[in-house]
Amino acid sequence: MNRYQGRVVAITGAAQGLGLAMATRFAAEGATLALADVNEQTLTDAAGTITDAHDAKLRTDRVDVTDSAQVNAWIDGVTTDLGRIDVLVNNAGILRDNRVEDITDDDWHAVIDVSLTGGFHCARAAFAPMKRQGYGRIVSFSSMSWRGNFGQTNYVAAKAGIVGMTRTLALEGARHGITANAIAPGLIETPMLASMNGPARDKLTNKIPMRHTGRPQDIAEAAAFLASDAASYITGIVLDVDGGISIGSSIR
Ligand SMILES: NC(=O)c1ccc[n+]([C@@H]2O[C@H](COP(=O)([O-])OP(=O)(O)OC[C@H]3O[C@@H](n4cnc5c(N)ncnc54)[C@H](O)[C@@H]3O)[C@@H](O)[C@H]2O)c1
Repeated sequence: MNRYQGRVVAITGAAQGLGLAMATRFAAEGATLALADVNEQTLTDAAGTITDAHDAKLRTDRVDVTDSAQVNAWIDGVTTDLGRIDVLVNNAGILRDNRVEDITDDDWHAVIDVSLTGGFHCARAAFAPMKRQGYGRIVSFSSMSWRGNFGQTNYVAAKAGIVGMTRTLALEGARHGITANAIAPGLIETPMLASMNGPARDKLTNKIPMRHTGRPQDIAEAAAFLASDAASYITGIVLDVDGGISIGSSIR
């Protein structure tokens, strides 16, 4: 399939994990990529693996999504250099887990700033060019945790915020051909998940009705669908991609 031929797809946090898997998936379908990450070296290496595998046109930028000036300059650079921005994937996110009484001011702000404010900075910057085009797809990363999760007050607040932001972007974008949707991944095998300790991870895996963690490709498939023309009448939703864990109890 070449669904993304002629489309410009911008992805934050693209150096590894889900961002890299999505970049690879979009490249395989002919997209021109604008990849951003705070970690420049890993991003350069990731871009190399994508261009080795696919004949993709891409640009990479070191962007810290918490800094609105950097985000504005990035989106300006993308639209000037590549002519348009069709898809924005708000993927960058971090964890600083702790029980509520042990979350420091720094842990709170760091998680909110990257995982929520960063997505807002990018959506705000992309909205004007998408409106001018009369076309846009914004896919933002929530998490299965958005409904509440022990030890993640900061992360849950950010990921629930993404849901509210997405629903509002959907309302404001609808008459301009812009859709906004969120993906709520379950436990997916990325460097972020590798940071979780063994017992906590095993306990969670046992709660997944499918009894196994997800692959980054599972998320990339969902993103490639939500950002496609096939999903043009879908907006404001949260798509759970989680092996069923959000359904509830799977005691057997
Ligand atoms: N892996 C999972 O199981 C899982 C589950 C639910 C939700 N998510 C969400 O999916 C998204 C991707 O997760 P992942 O597992 O690939 O994480 P990851 O840690 O493997 O990758 C995150 C990327 O974001 C980049 N990043 C961090 N801070 C940044 C900043 N300020 N500006 C720009 N880039 C920044 C990192 O350098 C890294 O490349 C995140 O929003 C995460 O919360 C992941």
